[in-house]
Amino acid sequence: MTTIRDVAKMAGVSVATVSRVLNKNGYVNKDTENTVMQTMKELNFEPSPVARGLAGKTMKTISLILPDISNPFFPELARAVEDIAQQHQFNVFLCNSDNLEKKEKSYIDVMQKKSIDGLIIVSNTVEEETIKKLQSSKIPVVLLDRPFTNNNCSIVRAQNTEGAQVAVKHLLDVGCKKIAHISGPKIVNPAHERLIGYTEMVSHFDWFNDSFIEEGGFDIKGGREAMKRLLISNPDIDGVFAGNDLMALGALKELLHMGIKVPEQVAICGFDGIQLTEYTEPGITTIAQPIYEMGALATDVLIQKIKRELNENKTFELPVKLIIRKSTKK
Ligand code: RIB
Repeated sequence: MTTIRDVAKMAGVSVATVSRVLNKNGYVNKDTENTVMQTMKELNFEPSPVARGLAGKTMKTISLILPDISNPFFPELARAVEDIAQQHQFNVFLCNSDNLEKKEKSYIDVMQKKSIDGLIIVSNTVEEETIKKLQSSKIPVVLLDRPFTNNNCSIVRAQNTEGAQVAVKHLLDVGCKKIAHISGPKIVNPAHERLIGYTEMVSHFDWFNDSFIEEGGFDIKGGREAMKRLLISNPDIDGVFAGNDLMALGALKELLHMGIKVPEQVAICGFDGIQLTEYTEPGITTIAQPIYEMGALATDVLIQKIKRELNENKTFELPVKLIIRKSTKK
């Protein structure tokens, strides 16, 4: 279904401009207006009540709780949630928990009091009790990306273990002999699953031991510090699989700072597929998660549950994709 965002993108204008053309409120120059109208026709765009900004429509509301909006992975996820929610005439309350259970809990209490229609949560800290309370108030919950347990909720996630195996196989295929892993926080489910994938691929090699694994904080600083430790413990590594793209960026920064050539001396592969990895020099090879599709599917599932069109809980595990760039082209 064509959204107001698709029209804006194709017409080369902002969503607000398309909305002004739709509602005939606010200035839009004639050429722009014609371009927007023409684009709507080409895309067979059917404006939703939200796109028309029609007042008086009772809008329902869902909430999305994210752990760290400073990590580009999450805004890409939120973009999808908002697009799909708006297509179904839902508002979205976005909450940033900073991975703090206390903050999550206070947000969830507010949502309960405002009798929010549904909740999508990305968390590795929220307590099962909290989710049970929401469900007892008939507020459907979908766990996205980081299912802490399958406690009677639908789950949408990516194939983390398989993705890690593809990353390590790619590094082996390009000739790496000793591959280290910078793991995200092990209490975070996807980080743990990627660690499993990495270990399954290298544990049979004679050279392997635990010193080839360093844990970071799922951010640039964590990746750089872990890389520093790895270069001390294993100066002869020639490949690194980082558990997310920000840590891969940090590892790249440290290697270049140490005068180590990437990929000639050390090849790097990340995980997530955030846009930033296209713009580094060298570009970073990564395992791309279907970020938009994950957010879109989680929102669709939640709205079906809100509308009682979906009663059973399902787990959706979406495939990931290897994107090869210069950081592994030896
Ligand atoms: O980069 C943030 C990480 O946390 C991603 O890998 C995503 O899977 C989330 O769990």
